[in-house]
Amino acid sequence: MSVAKKDYKRITTKSLIEMKANGEKISMLTAYDYTMAKIVDSAGVDVILVGDSASNVMAGHETTLPITLDQMIYHASSVVRAAERALVVVDLPFGSYQSDPREALRSSIRIMKESGGHAVKLEGGKEIKESIKKILNAGIPVMGHLGLTPQSIYKFGTYTVRAKEEAEAEKLLEDAKMLEKIGCFALVLEKIPSALAQKVAASISIPVIGIGAGSGVDGQVLVLHDMIGMTHEFSPRFLRRYMNLFEDMTKAIGQYVEDVKSVDFPNANEQY
Ligand code: KIV
Repeated sequence: MSVAKKDYKRITTKSLIEMKANGEKISMLTAYDYTMAKIVDSAGVDVILVGDSASNVMAGHETTLPITLDQMIYHASSVVRAAERALVVVDLPFGSYQSDPREALRSSIRIMKESGGHAVKLEGGKEIKESIKKILNAGIPVMGHLGLTPQSIYKFGTYTVRAKEEAEAEKLLEDAKMLEKIGCFALVLEKIPSALAQKVAASISIPVIGIGAGSGVDGQVLVLHDMIGMTHEFSPRFLRRYMNLFEDMTKAIGQYVEDVKSVDFPNANEQY
């Protein structure tokens, strides 16, 4: 199969829709800071997600719930400064959009104005339809997120695969069609059966980006720190680790400690 890709100067929401139409898969990774975002962007990733997984990865919280809108804006503005080609999508954090559409719009405007991000992402289907419409009406592109939605972890009680039962699968498909209809430019599907994800992707014309949703969708997303093996406690089946940076960095830092203690570092060439 061909992996040919069109070279875009700057990825836009329109380019992503075009990629789906042309059968070009979309790559998406998270980043939360300038240095990592620079590497991710240089490597040719199409979309950088400033995910609220920053709450786990950057701050060490057990869930995504504690991260605040101010903290998301801080992470996003660092990423935006680094991204020359990728589209930067920023998660609306828990508590910044659920209460009413006006709050959802206010939070989205803050993200766009204060971070320079290009789009927002929020979790949920018909329950938040009015909020999504309000944000879209202000000219802000919205990416949806269905399936396992980590901001609802206390409702689910577990991080296991969602939509295995017919009723939940049907609702998910309806929600996906609704998100397309009201004008979302893309959709994340997290941890659902691959057959269902493929059906959703075939039923709508906007790109479906999967995480733990199989290969029948229009693109893939992973949490950067998981795919480069910086984190090591978390090993779901869908995760492919391309490096083992936890081990490599621990070794390198251990070596540095040894060199400092033994006065091997700095050597004669490493001083003035
Ligand atoms: O916050 C995040 O990193 C996400 C991805 C897992 C899709 O929402």
